[in-house]
Amino acid sequence: MTLVAGIDSSTQSCKVVIREADSGRLVRSGSAQHPEGTEVDPHAWWEALLGAIDAAGGLGDVAAVAVGGQQHGMVALDASGEVIRDALLWNDTRSAEAAEQLVNEYGEGARGKATWARMVGSVPVASLTITKLRWLADTEPENAGRVAAVALPHDWLTWKMSGSHHLADLVTDRSEASGTGYFDPSTGEYRYELLACALRIPQAQARSVVLPRVAAPGEAVGSGDSSRGWGHLVLGPGGGDNAMGALGVGMSTGDVSISLGTSGVVAATSPTPVQDPTGKIAGFASATGEFLPLAVTLNGSRVLDGACRMLGVNHRQLATLALAAEPGAHGMTLVPYLEGERTPNLPHATGSLLGMSLASMNPQDVARAAVEGLLCLVADGLKAMTDMGVPVNSIRLIGGAAKNPAVQQIAPAILERDILVPGAGEYVADGAARQAAWVLAGSATPPEWETSEVTVCTAEPTQFVRERYSQRRHLFAEGR
Ligand code: XUL
Repeated sequence: MTLVAGIDSSTQSCKVVIREADSGRLVRSGSAQHPEGTEVDPHAWWEALLGAIDAAGGLGDVAAVAVGGQQHGMVALDASGEVIRDALLWNDTRSAEAAEQLVNEYGEGARGKATWARMVGSVPVASLTITKLRWLADTEPENAGRVAAVALPHDWLTWKMSGSHHLADLVTDRSEASGTGYFDPSTGEYRYELLACALRIPQAQARSVVLPRVAAPGEAVGSGDSSRGWGHLVLGPGGGDNAMGALGVGMSTGDVSISLGTSGVVAATSPTPVQDPTGKIAGFASATGEFLPLAVTLNGSRVLDGACRMLGVNHRQLATLALAAEPGAHGMTLVPYLEGERTPNLPHATGSLLGMSLASMNPQDVARAAVEGLLCLVADGLKAMTDMGVPVNSIRLIGGAAKNPAVQQIAPAILERDILVPGAGEYVADGAARQAAWVLAGSATPPEWETSEVTVCTAEPTQFVRERYSQRRHLFAEGR
């Protein structure tokens, strides 16, 4: 029996799954926590990865491994391969002004956005790596001057697993490179002039900054560190968590996933590049050689965590409360921009609970408003996707908050479609494991693994809830 491992180094934790290469059967798994915060020492991820591997019983009997990770985080390395400063994560909004500057440097407002969408498939927002580099150049010029290579969380971890200290051995994949803001997924090339612009250095100098080589989908990129007893391990290129999740769920054209993890992500696969001049859709690449348009919100499952804290209940109790309330929560709306927001791009926004009345100020309606507000936020992302002409034949709900019964039952009412809920799983780690099996097989496409059974959720549409959310969200955004 040949085993493969998949790793998900996500925002809040590191998860490892070990599966049978041929069938995909789960053999064992492990996990370890990450530190809180939007600025993290990458060595903490490394320690968590080692802990999660131990908890999963080690990699001694595993033939291949691939790492998926939270996208965009800036891991800046100096010439000796040392990390220069703590990584700024995808949900760190301090580079919001840098993002605005970068957009406007290529044309004021809408013109600049359209130019960026054409150049790299996405319009810079604070999440993208390129904006973090501009922030570094302007705020910490000494650190910026030491940058010899720029990696992302998953590339850096794959490099650490190889045991190499040579910057030239850094490898990434298209999905992850496409989230940097200096890689064009439609050509598969880095755009060094954009890196130069971000770091405010001449282009010739930018060319000497090492960017991870972009591996082909399913390519074996090296072997594990023999000093750790991993010399037998074949390394896959890995990828961004959303691309690995799509591989784990087994998505193809027309399938859409809505992932409610730390971020909220509406993802679709597309055979052609997607370039949205409004910036609502990020035109990333997938892990299989296609494209992965995404609408990403900064606020996801933690909206429900916040509601639980506010009401002094756990997630199960929150669901019971929300399902005991009428649709529409007696006129109350939560606009859940709790950590600022990215789609729509309001990095410094805060959330609002609107329409409170004596009828609605009770735990049931507050719980209902929290679930409805989160779903309305991602429903807008889904609309942006259909506005771009991306086909939506089916919707799968995944991620931590997808386990919540209230989310499952209210989602079809808000999204006005049936929703498929696959069995609970670690889809990012599973996708990474499937990539590892693919790399090992050396085949043209990933192995067919059995997908888990799905539950179909249906509900009467509650269009008025979204309409009211839309009006209030607009009022709120304009009022800022
Ligand atoms: C995608 C994004 C998030 C992170 C966190 O653009 O920023 O989904 O990958 O997981």
